[in-house]
Amino acid sequence: MKLSDVNLTAQQVKDMATKYMIETYERFPFIAIRAKDMYLYDENDNAYLDFYGGIAVNNAGSCNDKVVAAVRDQVGDLMHTFNYPYSIPQAILAKLICEAVGMDKIFYQNSGTEANEAMIKMARKYGTDNFGPERYHIVTAKKSFHGRTFGAMSATGQPDSANHKGYEPLLPGFTYADLNDLDSFKAAVTDNTIAIMLEVVQGEGGVRPVTKEFIKGIEALCREKGMLLLIDEIQTGWCRTGKVMGFMNFDIKPDIISMAKAMGGGVPIGAICARNEVAKTFNPGAHGTTYGGSPLCTAAAYAQINELLDRNLADNAKEVGDYFMNKLKDLPHAKEVRGMGLLVGVEFDFGGALNIKRACVERKLLVTSIGANTIRMVPPLIATKEDCDKAFDILKEAVEAAAKL
Ligand SMILES: Cc1ncc(COP(=O)(O)O)c(C=O)c1O
Repeated sequence: MKLSDVNLTAQQVKDMATKYMIETYERFPFIAIRAKDMYLYDENDNAYLDFYGGIAVNNAGSCNDKVVAAVRDQVGDLMHTFNYPYSIPQAILAKLICEAVGMDKIFYQNSGTEANEAMIKMARKYGTDNFGPERYHIVTAKKSFHGRTFGAMSATGQPDSANHKGYEPLLPGFTYADLNDLDSFKAAVTDNTIAIMLEVVQGEGGVRPVTKEFIKGIEALCREKGMLLLIDEIQTGWCRTGKVMGFMNFDIKPDIISMAKAMGGGVPIGAICARNEVAKTFNPGAHGTTYGGSPLCTAAAYAQINELLDRNLADNAKEVGDYFMNKLKDLPHAKEVRGMGLLVGVEFDFGGALNIKRACVERKLLVTSIGANTIRMVPPLIATKEDCDKAFDILKEAVEAAAKL
């Protein structure tokens, strides 16, 4: 939709949003009108180099031609019908995903948080069905982020943050342990623990990867204690970290994974995938969804995932991500560069992340800030080394400007 379509000025649109919308975000100062591949365009057709990628969604590039064509093809035939009849896009996507991630079964949802709700529900039901009513506890990592609905919020290991404050009491049965500290997890596990739930790179928590030693230790602990290993792949999934799923970097076999974000390439869809033995705990009536797995969203996801796989964007994420992370170490005030593939964070030695972000936007580069010190970048996985060079130059200027404030 363009301003001319609605006969409004840019300021009128912004004022309308401010007046009528419940605003929980600091907005960029422009209106997004269109996007293509690495760029987002505003109401004056200014092009912004997009290194936030709709927050790790536009992995195959914004408005990817194949995804757009798939949506156009499907939208006139069948948008929605609910899950009583079979649908072709659902079935072919299920096969594609299960084979690509090495899992047996999929259940579709609408978003990341909802996928995590399903993962938590499945783990709890598996525990209570198989071991008794007390076996529902889940250990997650401090600084983790799993979503904004009650189960996912309770799994989020940030008790002092805005994610929790004001919403207590949260769901019982969650305890938090230190990431990359196996002993901390061992101490948190009890006879009533049914699962350990982790991101392999904490995204919102400041871009913090797990170590191989830690995650292998967690897997061994799960096997020893009869617990499930749940991996939240919502940000790390779909080629972001240099493999199809983040867990594949570590030679581990989770019991359930959750996914969303890049799965739909811009349409809202999420899912969990599970091993047969665990999946069967969701028997008829145990779970459901109105929109989850809609023909429209699954057709888009089918095109998106084929693009990611056919173009081998995992390898590009690894190669370009390694190049970018190496380069970012030369930024002024860079204290630490962390990440995996094209999930990249730079922690600065001063609390200017918000100002750096704003200075980047002024210079037509889009990034996000996490906490006071860290900038996170999750560009489309079609990014080239030249795109990274350009982003680096803008970031450098932005850091220098922010450091003077
Ligand atoms: C690791 C992780 N889990 C869950 C979520 C929640 O996903 P959604 O915003 O689609 O509900 C996010 C979103 O940022 C995430 O990064």
